[in-house]
Amino acid sequence: MENVVMQEEFRVTYQNKRVFLTGHTGFKGSWMLCWLNSLGAIVKGYALQAPKEGLYTDINGDALCQSVIADIRDQKRVKDEILAFQPDFIFHLAAQPLVRCSYEIPAETFEVNALGTVYVLDAVQHLQKPCTVIMITTDKVYENKEWHYPYRENDRLGGYDPYSASKATAELVISSYRSSFFNLDKYHEHQKVIVSARAGNVIGGGDWSQDRIIPDIVRALQHGLSIPVRNPHAIRPWQHVLEPISGYLLLGAKATLEPLSYSGAWNFGPQLEDCLNVQTLVETAISIWGTGDYTVITGIDQPHEAGLLKLDISKTINELGWKPKYNSHKAIQMTLDWFKHSSENRETISEFTESQISEYMQL
Ligand SMILES: NC(=O)c1ccc[n+]([C@@H]2O[C@H](COP(=O)([O-])OP(=O)(O)OC[C@H]3O[C@@H](n4cnc5c(N)ncnc54)[C@H](O)[C@@H]3O)[C@@H](O)[C@H]2O)c1
Repeated sequence: MENVVMQEEFRVTYQNKRVFLTGHTGFKGSWMLCWLNSLGAIVKGYALQAPKEGLYTDINGDALCQSVIADIRDQKRVKDEILAFQPDFIFHLAAQPLVRCSYEIPAETFEVNALGTVYVLDAVQHLQKPCTVIMITTDKVYENKEWHYPYRENDRLGGYDPYSASKATAELVISSYRSSFFNLDKYHEHQKVIVSARAGNVIGGGDWSQDRIIPDIVRALQHGLSIPVRNPHAIRPWQHVLEPISGYLLLGAKATLEPLSYSGAWNFGPQLEDCLNVQTLVETAISIWGTGDYTVITGIDQPHEAGLLKLDISKTINELGWKPKYNSHKAIQMTLDWFKHSSENRETISEFTESQISEYMQL
């Protein structure tokens, strides 16, 4: 899609529109909030308290939205907040999003990721107005066969670890609600369109999560330490955070205009040549940073994580008109630029974040 058309389409779609954004205090949610704000959307966020060190605090997220701090497992609160706000759009990002953490708190992971999805969709049932609902799941919803073929939207769902299985469960919930309560055959009665977006591994400025490779890299490089690398040969569809966020916004725009054409599931990932293994990602980061080294962690008993995961984005490219703008090198560079700026000029990191969004839009 031409950039000018995309920018204009986003503005026409979101300016002065009411957007209910769950997970707005998190890494992707904060980027989304920043972008929606620049488009003139009226945003109400729903999530847990932002971490002290995180993008939400850096961008002064409280000034950009009406922020509700509450648990997605509180069904009544979710319903009350959605109905009180009367959204035109819902982007559901709130989740327990970490694989390793999901082994420690499996029940909570299922509650937050699967039941949280139920509660959002249940509230939508009571909404007496048109609404476009974008549910954010993940590339990990597919039954992973550890092969080089990339997964398509109609591949079988599965999930070894609790995180992946909880998101696959969320997909089943979404599909069930779509068939049972928001069936396209009756679109003109309910006027709701429900889509799901399955993105690959996201990197970008402002992610300080534990057990993710970019925060591990940045912490080590900034302190002159060796980068700990757990699974050097694991291949993932890495992409800069602005890639899936632009995809979610585009999906929202298209699904609103043509609900019958865009309802369903959509993959968002890099081109196949940009699916790197962890070792290559780390080596690229070191070469961009200009210094540093890494140590492969062996000999400790680690929970199972997928070794090989690729996404097929043909449907998204051909039918939605979205494609990635950054290759893996550029994605890593944009990410490290952000962290460098943050450590050297923390007070202007909000403007820097906005400038990365503008740069992305102009490509
Ligand atoms: N980061 C990635 O690589 C990646 C890849 C694919 C999909 N995703 C999905 O994108 C979404 C956002 O991920 P992220 O990386 O920004 O994670 P994050 O941990 O930075 O943010 C998670 C957000 O969910 C909120 N949340 C968590 N538990 C909650 C609860 N019980 N009640 C209310 N809110 C709760 C948090 O407060 C936070 O706002 C998630 O759905 C995740 O599964 C992330």
